[in-house]
Amino acid sequence: MLCLYNNYSIFYRSLQDGKLTAALVMPYHFNMKKSTDKKKRILTGDRPTGALHIGHYVGSLANRVKLQNEYDCFFIIADYQVLTDHLSDTAQIEGNIREILLDWLAVGLDPEQSTFFIQSRVPQIAELTMYFSMIVSVPEVQRNPTVKDEMKAAKIGKKEMSYGFLGYPISQAADIMCVRADLVPVGEDQLPHIEHTREIVRRFNRLFSPVFPEPKALLGSFPRLPGIDGQKMSKSRNNAIFLKDSPDEVRKKIMQAYTDPTRIHATDPGHLEGNVVFAYLDAFLSDKDELADWKKKYKKGQVGDVVIKKRLIEVLLSFLEPIQERRAAFAAKPGMLREILEYGIERTTKEAQATLELAREAMRMDYRSLLS
Ligand code: TRP
Repeated sequence: MLCLYNNYSIFYRSLQDGKLTAALVMPYHFNMKKSTDKKKRILTGDRPTGALHIGHYVGSLANRVKLQNEYDCFFIIADYQVLTDHLSDTAQIEGNIREILLDWLAVGLDPEQSTFFIQSRVPQIAELTMYFSMIVSVPEVQRNPTVKDEMKAAKIGKKEMSYGFLGYPISQAADIMCVRADLVPVGEDQLPHIEHTREIVRRFNRLFSPVFPEPKALLGSFPRLPGIDGQKMSKSRNNAIFLKDSPDEVRKKIMQAYTDPTRIHATDPGHLEGNVVFAYLDAFLSDKDELADWKKKYKKGQVGDVVIKKRLIEVLLSFLEPIQERRAAFAAKPGMLREILEYGIERTTKEAQATLELAREAMRMDYRSLLS
């Protein structure tokens, strides 16, 4: 059951207008205006493997913040999926779930509009995975390019691959279908999983009866942000700028960032391609005239790396400041985090229970004459 917390008052600065609006959040679910009846459903989420970085923001979080106004959004913290390649650090999962939740709230995912839940706490997902696992063949999953890449990255050979690792795209189909989501905003690497989901849905609906919608992937349009070394940004490569990085950490990282290796003096003409500093400015400097001006000067050798990096640091810090303020406000309210998760788990469980009943009925496995 939800318990009521009174007098939560945190400041909520809207990302869109930057204005401070006193956000109530006094028992926040009083306000839950989840008039969700007509809205299309979205499900997406993250694995709790650590704090989120600016690449996550640009690639998916910013998009989610926008989508939540228009759709009924479910955000999953996929803890089962962590087990596929982090089985020896299960003790970290709980802390990482908290980090993800704080990052989500900090960037403006809104528990009054959207539903946040933990995968393993909605048991119907595991049950649905069981049914779905009969509908896909092993070679189909073995051909999944993302599964192959991840096996390589985790240095897992075919022989040592766990049954759960191979099966995680099927469990992801169950994540999506437990709430019968219509849309799944994801990065390109997740497309093979959405394809499995669609195939499972088509087969299920054909074999039994049309219970599930065929979900569509929603691809973000912003190109992937590189890490400070120009490689793919990731925690394991140690090249990420995290949403919770302190101003000093941001300064230090940007001063080390990769720019244009062909340039020795500030007066040499600079290149923008592959230049991390300009990739970040493209993403975070909203004044496009100023951006164009810096680019022009950089290409002509009229501005040095240190000057442009200092400007980037200012831009990033002013982007991060309100996010970190909100993060701190939520971090100071553990009772609220618990309530947000418990509410989300409760709502998702209800939806998933209804889904499972439909699936069992379609399969004639509701056993109505035997069981009440
Ligand atoms: N596999 C996704 C990732 O690694 C996380 C995830 C789990 C997910 N279940 C999902 C994404 C359902 C979209 C829909 O980022």
